[in-house]
Amino acid sequence: MPAPIVAVTRSLPAPGIAPLLAAGFDVRHRDVDGPCPPEELHELVRGADGVFALLTERVDEAFLDAAGPQLRVVANMAVGFDNVDVPACSARGVQVTNTPDVLTDATADLAWALILGAARRVPEADRLVRSGAWQGWRPMDLLGLGVAGKTLGILGMGKIGAAVARRAGGFGMRIRYHNRTPSADAATLGAELVDRATLFAASDVVVLTAPSTPETHHIVDAAVLASMKPSAILVNVARGPLVDEAALVTALRAGTITAAGLDVYEFEPRLVDGLAGCDNTVLLPHLGSSTIEARAAMVELACANIVAVLGGAAPLTPVNRPDPRG
Ligand code: DGY
Repeated sequence: MPAPIVAVTRSLPAPGIAPLLAAGFDVRHRDVDGPCPPEELHELVRGADGVFALLTERVDEAFLDAAGPQLRVVANMAVGFDNVDVPACSARGVQVTNTPDVLTDATADLAWALILGAARRVPEADRLVRSGAWQGWRPMDLLGLGVAGKTLGILGMGKIGAAVARRAGGFGMRIRYHNRTPSADAATLGAELVDRATLFAASDVVVLTAPSTPETHHIVDAAVLASMKPSAILVNVARGPLVDEAALVTALRAGTITAAGLDVYEFEPRLVDGLAGCDNTVLLPHLGSSTIEARAAMVELACANIVAVLGGAAPLTPVNRPDPRG
C-alpha cells in the first residue's frame, strides 16, 4: 500500500517535518516562509490524506473540494481555528485538530509585554531615545499608568485568560473576568465573574483572550470603547475581528481610552488607516506563541495529531467529531 500523503503548507521551525518523515509518510512540503495563495494551496493539498495547516490558510469548501474525499485530517498549528470551516470538515468526515496548552504561557507572557509596554509607553520611550531628542531625566517625561493595585479585566477566561490573570497576582491587581461559563480557576485566582458591561466600564486594563466567532465579532465597538475609563488600556492577543479597529483609532485619537496593545489585527497583516500613526499603541506582528519552545511544541503536537489520525488512533487535541459517514 502506498504511504499516506501529508501536505505541509510552509517552512516550519524545528522539529519541522521530521516527525512526519519518521512516521513513513509521503510528505509534500511547501518549504516557503510566506503565505500560500489559495490556488497554490489547493494544488498542494490535492490527493492528500493529511494536511499540516497554518492559521493563515483558509480551510473551506473550496479547499476540501480540491483535496478530495480521501482527506482524513487537517492539523492546524494554532490554538485558534477560525480559519477552518469546522462544520464543513465534520460533514466530510475530516478530523480537525489544534494546538492548545503548549502556547498558553508564551501567549500570556506576551499579553503582559503589551500591558506593560502600553502602560509605561515603552515604544514612545524607545523612539525618543533613538531619535536623539532625549534631554536627560525630567520629572514629567512620558508619565504612564502604574498597574499595581489596579483592576485587570479579562474577556474570555480560558487557559490563556487564566494564565494572564495568574501573572497579575505579582502586580497585586484585582481581577475581574467575563466568560460564557464561570471559570474553574476563578477561586484560585481570586477572579470575580462580572457582566460584560461592568468588565469594560470598571477595568483599568482589559485583555481580550476570547476566540473569534460570529458572537465575538466587533465585541469591542465604539459604544464599548466609550464606556471604558479614559485612563484604560485595551490589549488584544486573541483575534483581530474582536475589535472594530476603525472605532479604536477614533477612540485612541480622541483620548476615549489611553492606549492599546495589539498583537492581532482585523485585516491582518494590513492595519486600518490611522492605526500606525497612533503613538499611544504597542503594535506587534502576531507573536503570541513565538517562543522557540512553544513553536516547537506546536509543530510536535500538530504532527502527532496527523500521525495518530492516519494511524487509526484518536487525535490528541481534536476540535471536532467528524461524521463517520462523511
Ligand atoms: C494561535 O495559536 O491561535 C495563535 O494566534 C498563534 O499561535
